[in-house]
Amino acid sequence: MSGVTRPPTIIAPKFVTTLTNNRHSTRSVAMTKARALDSLDIEGVDFAFDDIPDLHHMLSRLRSAKPYAIVPFGGINGVLLLTEQLVAAAFRDENTFPAKAIYPRSTGAVLGHTLQCMTGREHRINKALVSPPFRRLVAAALCEPMIKPIVHELIDAFADRGSADLVAEFANPLPVRVISALLGVPKGDAAEMARWAHDLFNYPHDPDGALQASREFTEYITPVLAERRAESGDDLISRLVGQEVEGEQLSDEQILAFLRLLFPAGADTTHLILGSLLSALLTHPDQLEQVRTNPNEEIEWAIQEGLRWEAPVALLPRFCPDAVTWQGIEIPANTPMVFAITAANRDPVKYPEPDRFDITRRVKPTTAFGGGPHSCLGNWLAMTELHAALEVLLERLPDVHLQADTETDAQVTSQIGTALRGPNALHVEWNA
Ligand code: HEM
Repeated sequence: MSGVTRPPTIIAPKFVTTLTNNRHSTRSVAMTKARALDSLDIEGVDFAFDDIPDLHHMLSRLRSAKPYAIVPFGGINGVLLLTEQLVAAAFRDENTFPAKAIYPRSTGAVLGHTLQCMTGREHRINKALVSPPFRRLVAAALCEPMIKPIVHELIDAFADRGSADLVAEFANPLPVRVISALLGVPKGDAAEMARWAHDLFNYPHDPDGALQASREFTEYITPVLAERRAESGDDLISRLVGQEVEGEQLSDEQILAFLRLLFPAGADTTHLILGSLLSALLTHPDQLEQVRTNPNEEIEWAIQEGLRWEAPVALLPRFCPDAVTWQGIEIPANTPMVFAITAANRDPVKYPEPDRFDITRRVKPTTAFGGGPHSCLGNWLAMTELHAALEVLLERLPDVHLQADTETDAQVTSQIGTALRGPNALHVEWNA
């Protein structure tokens, strides 16, 4: 990725940082207990830091030897899970790989005590409290009144020009604009919101900037929260304030931590997959044409295939705090784990010819949004955004195509180490 501005980080790299920030302490624990992981399956690359340009090829090679691999991770040995069966099982197993073993250390300072730091009853109640505004039909109902107008506005800014970079001008700004609209903050504050979102993502690469963004966003949104408590509207904050589950309601700090989490969890993920989906379609013009001519039928399948083919959270770091034999793998205490979502989504046992992008597969990938208790809360919102973006873009720019000689930029690539993937740029043109 040399010479390319890396986009900001999200949830996954923060896990990485947990281990790397605590590199020395983690290393010393692991060195004393990691006997069963002594023999690495691959060397010369660190899955916590390194950009692996031929990631899919490497994962496929490792998986053909066995369903998991012992890999360097932040200077110590970790377990990389490579098959659909193992990755799905690991997501479901909160007891063995609890999210709270890693998130408080990785994101706690900037985001607070979020859902990702919780477990058991606390997590169940809190998730039930924040879930209603993100349900499938609620998200779908936002499409016409809220999401499509934002998509149109973004396209208005470049439609007459005849050319654009769809990553910088379309995919990147869309999710932050949607989250801001959900919060019901004035449109005039969009630039500030985008800056805070960016700086929050940038944790921990720029810890001072991220902490400052966290403080500034909290100062900005606290009075808004107080207003919504006094007089509620139909925005997300008002809905959170009004929820009650098993006699419990969300405290101000629980709401604030949740709102801070929305940016890293919901913006970069959606922007990267929109870029990857557009990249896949623009580099497979026959399939793009199929989607354009039959959007009602094909958009949904194109999105599902995009999520399978290039899951934006490609490698999700977790942690195994206690020694265990899990699915036949002997895992010492304090072992870094990597759930290779992108390898699960290209597991040939489940998806024949997995490297081929093919919207006619009609399969739904099971792990792109995680799984188990911490599975993605915003999946329906993300699906609605992707649907609106694709539908309106193809309606308004029916002959959109890649500019000559820009295919290399349009290729999906690692964005932060190997954790996240998306294209760097999508230089397109059309008849204005
Ligand atoms: C295509 C886009 C998206 C992808 C691929 C994605 C992926 C994921 C994954 C893999 C997890 C599980 C993390 C873990 O187990 O440690 C997750 C959790 C989460 N996501 Fe998403 N996400 C997307 C969009 C969104 C959006 C739009 C929102 C909200 C605005 C959102 C909010 C969340 C939240 C709050 C969690 C934590 C849930 C919990 O801990 O119970 N995500 N996401």
